[in-house]
Amino acid sequence: MADDRTAPPVAEAEGPREKVMIVDDDLTNLIFAKSALSETYDVYTAPSAAKMFSVMGAGVVPDIVLLDISMPVMDGYEAIRRLKAAPATAKVPVIFLTAMTNTQAEMDGLSLGAVDYISKPFDPALLRKRVEIHLTVVAQKRLLEDQRNLLQEQKGQLEEQRGQLLEFNRNLMGMVEEKTSRVIELQGAILSTVADLVECRDDFTGGHVNRTKNFLRLLVGALSDSGLYSDSMIGWDLELLCRSSELHDVGKISVSDTILLKRGRLTAEEFEEIKLHTIYGVKIIERMAQATNEIDYLKHARIFAGTHHERWDGSGYPTGLKGEEIPLEGRLLAICDVYDALVSRRPYKEPLSHETAVGVIVKGRGTHFDPALTDVFEKVSQSFKAWGVRNGPGALRETEAGAAGSGARRVQERGGGGFGGTSVGLGTAVAISRGAGVSSARQGALKK
Ligand SMILES: [Fe+2]
Ligand SMILES: [Fe+2]
Repeated sequence: MADDRTAPPVAEAEGPREKVMIVDDDLTNLIFAKSALSETYDVYTAPSAAKMFSVMGAGVVPDIVLLDISMPVMDGYEAIRRLKAAPATAKVPVIFLTAMTNTQAEMDGLSLGAVDYISKPFDPALLRKRVEIHLTVVAQKRLLEDQRNLLQEQKGQLEEQRGQLLEFNRNLMGMVEEKTSRVIELQGAILSTVADLVECRDDFTGGHVNRTKNFLRLLVGALSDSGLYSDSMIGWDLELLCRSSELHDVGKISVSDTILLKRGRLTAEEFEEIKLHTIYGVKIIERMAQATNEIDYLKHARIFAGTHHERWDGSGYPTGLKGEEIPLEGRLLAICDVYDALVSRRPYKEPLSHETAVGVIVKGRGTHFDPALTDVFEKVSQSFKAWGVRNGPGALRETEAGAAGSGARRVQERGGGGFGGTSVGLGTAVAISRGAGVSSARQGALKK
C-alpha cells in the first residue's frame, strides 16, 4: 500500500496547465507516472479512490484521470461509476491503468465510460502520448461544445432580433395602414365635398349624387351576384367604384350659372353647353389624377363622368359610343342616373312613382340602356324602391306613401311634360335631345 499523500502541482510560468490525476495504490507506479507526465502537466497523485475524491472535493477538477482498477476498499470500477455520476466530473476522461490483460476486464471498464486502457508496466513515452491524445480529444470536444453553445446563443439572439423585427414591422404596417386609411378618408371627404359643392350650384338636383351612388351600389351588387360581365369587373373594388361615381357630374362646375340655374326652356345652344359637362368632368378628373395617387378611384370617376350620358343605340353623348363600346361603368350609371331623375321632384315636373320609373327604364331596354343590365335592374328594382323610401328623395317617399302613380298623373295634367304615359311619352322623358325645343322634362333628364 502506498503512502496516503499527494504531490503538489509544479508551477509553470506559461499559465495554467492541464491537470492529470493519477490514482494507484502502488507508490512506485505513482512516482513513475508522475515523473513521466509532470514536465508537461500539473500532476496530482492519489494512493486511493477515497483520496482522489477528497482532492476533488477541495476544488481540484482534473482534465484527465489515470485510474488503477485493483485497489482496496474502492476499486477502479466503483470509482469511475462515481466520477461519471457526478456532473462536475462526468465528462472527465478516465484511462484505466492495470496489470490485468483479460479482454473482459477491458470491456467492463470501457462500458463504464473509460476512454482507454494502459497496461502496467507502462512505457513513459507511450503514457505521455496516450494522455496527450485524450486531452486533445477533450479539448476538441470542448471547442466543439463552445462553438455549439455560441451558435445556440447566436441563434437565440437572432430569434430575439427576428421577433423584435417582426414586432417592429407589425407596428410599422399598422402605422402605415392607419396613415393610409386617414389619407384615403381625407381624399374621399375632399372629393365628396367637391361633388357636393358642384351639386349645390344646381338647386334642382339636391342629393342626386349621393342617391345615385347608393342606387349604383345596389345595381353593381346585383350584377356581381348574377355573374354577368364578370370579366369586365375583374379587379374592381365595388365600394371604391361606387364612391367614385360621386364625381360623375363634376363637369357642371364649368357650366355657366345662367344655363345651369335657368328654370325656363333651354335653347339648343344651351343644351349643347349642358352636354359639355361630361367633357369638362373628364378634364377636371384628369387634372385631379395628376395630383394624387388615387388612380383606381379617379380612373372609374373619369369613365363615369365621360360616359354616363352615352346610350346603347349610339344616340347619346358626348361621343355617341354604341353597345359595349360604352364602358360598363357608364352603362351602369346611366340606369341609376335616370332612375333618380325620374323619381325626383323638379321645378318643371312631379316625381314619378317607383313603378312608373321602372317602366320607363325597361322601355329603354336596348335603345337607351344595356339590355342585360336593364334585366338586372328590373330584378333588383324593389331594392331601389326600398332604399328610396327609406333614404331617398322626398319624392319617392311621397309617392310611395299612398300616391303611387299620381306623379305621372299630375305631369299629364301639367300638359307639356312628355311624362304623359307609360308607353311613348315616358320613353321621351329620359331621351337625350340633340335638338332645340326640347320639353322641360326632357331637359331635366338631360341636366342630370
Ligand atoms: Fe350628367
Ligand atoms: Fe347625374
